[in-house]
Amino acid sequence: MPQIIDGKAISAQIKDELKEKVGTLKEKGVRICLAVIQVGNDPASSVYVGNKKKACAYIGIESLAYELPEETTQEELLRLIGELNAKKEVNGILVQLPLPDHIDEGAVIRAIDPKKDVDGFHPQNVGALCIGQPGFVSCTPAGILQLLKRSGIEIAGKECVVIGRSNIVGKPMALLLLRENGTVTVTHSKTKDLKAVAKRADILVAAVGRPKMITRDYVKEGAVVIDVGIHRNENNKLCGDVDYDDVAPICSAITPVPGGVGPMTIAMLMYNCVEAGNIK
Ligand code: GUN
Repeated sequence: MPQIIDGKAISAQIKDELKEKVGTLKEKGVRICLAVIQVGNDPASSVYVGNKKKACAYIGIESLAYELPEETTQEELLRLIGELNAKKEVNGILVQLPLPDHIDEGAVIRAIDPKKDVDGFHPQNVGALCIGQPGFVSCTPAGILQLLKRSGIEIAGKECVVIGRSNIVGKPMALLLLRENGTVTVTHSKTKDLKAVAKRADILVAAVGRPKMITRDYVKEGAVVIDVGIHRNENNKLCGDVDYDDVAPICSAITPVPGGVGPMTIAMLMYNCVEAGNIK
C-alpha cells in the first residue's frame, strides 16, 4: 500500500512551529495582524473565513474581520483596502474569493499592497515567483510543496505533471515545481491524450475540479499523487479529483481527501502572515 501523505498532521506541525515563532515575536514587541474581508454571505466562504479566524487565534495572530454586504460597491471595497494598506498594525490583507459579479476581482487583487498580499495573488508576487525572487506564494501550491518536502519526496529531476492551469493552483504549482528543478508539464482541458501525458508523471498534481476523474488509467505505477479537489459525492461524502480507491494500490504515495491538501492551505496562509510580519 502507498504512503498516505497526512496533511492534517503536517499542517498541525506547521501551525505549532508558527505558534512558537509568533510567541517569540510577541516577546520582542512584534504583533501580527491579518485583516479578512468577506463580501456577501456565501456559506462556503463563511466556513473558510471562520476557519482562518480560528487558525489565527490558535497561533496568536490577531484577526480583523470585515463582513460587508453583498451590495458593497467596488469603490467602497477599494477604499477599505486602501485604509488597510495604510495601517501599520495590519500585516496581511485577505479578500475572500469569489466576489460578487459587479466587482472586478483583478482590480481588487491589484489594490492590495504586495507586501500585505498573504494570498500571493498580486501580479507582483506572481511575477516574483516566476523569476525566482522572494515574494508571497499562493497558499495551496505552497502547501503541496511542504507536503512533498516533509514527506521526503524528491522533486529535482522528476517528471511532474500538473492537471489544471488556474491562477491560484495550477500555474503557481508548476512554477514551484520548476523552481525545485522538476521537469514540469501543465495540462488543461484542450490537452490531447491527457491519460498518456499524466502517465508520464513521477509526481502528478490533480487540480481539475471534477470528482474522481483521475483513475489508474492516468497514473504510472509508483507515482506520487497529489489530489487538490474537494467535492461531495452522491452520498454527501467528501471526495477529490482522484478516484482514491482505484489509484491508491498502484501509487507510491497519495494525499487523501479530506486530510490531504485541504488543511495545508490555511497553514500556509498563517505562514505567509508571519512572513508579512517580518517585512519592513
Ligand atoms: N477562495 C477559495 N480559495 C481562496 C483562497 O485561497 N484565498 C482567497 N482569498 N479566497 C479563496
